[in-house]
Amino acid sequence: MAESSSGPNLILIGMMGTGKSTVGQLLARELNFRLLDLDERIEEREGRSIPEIFARGGEEEFRRIESRELLLALREKELVLSTGGGAVLAPGNAEAMGKGGYVAALTATAEELVSRVGQDPNRPLLAGDASERIHRLLRERAGAYGFADCTIDTTGRSAAEVRDLILMHYRGSVFKRNS
Ligand code: S3P
Repeated sequence: MAESSSGPNLILIGMMGTGKSTVGQLLARELNFRLLDLDERIEEREGRSIPEIFARGGEEEFRRIESRELLLALREKELVLSTGGGAVLAPGNAEAMGKGGYVAALTATAEELVSRVGQDPNRPLLAGDASERIHRLLRERAGAYGFADCTIDTTGRSAAEVRDLILMHYRGSVFKRNS
């Protein structure tokens, strides 16, 4: 696992709406790491929004860009990396994340995800019937987040509670490897 003296990168994975960006901000502050939001990085590099990338090149092009930016991001140190929900899908990405840091998966029930992001126009994969889309993605991605070092159910929990649970696991793992 790539690591600096202050600890390995902390990588957040999980479905849309599990709170990766919000919790990522809290974690970065606590660890004094930089927060890198992969979706934001993609938009900056491409000079266009995620809906625009999907509209022009489809999901395939988005995944190609996402994998490229993920691998570049993983070279950096002292990073909290918040990834998009599908960043785990391309072959090799999960392995690269496992090698590039400590991976925390966030989960939530389908109902909670629908209420958090069901109305969001910036998530092209949820266009149309968001509830049906979320249920389908959860089925299609069952197991895709299972490689994480820890998994935290965010349903009914505040972002601060989720942050504290992740920190407990992260610090426990760093402690174990150093002792
Ligand atoms: C996606 C999740 C989004 C974004 C894109 C595709 C997905 O990120 O990368 O719309 O495939 O689950 P968030 O998980 O931050 O919403």
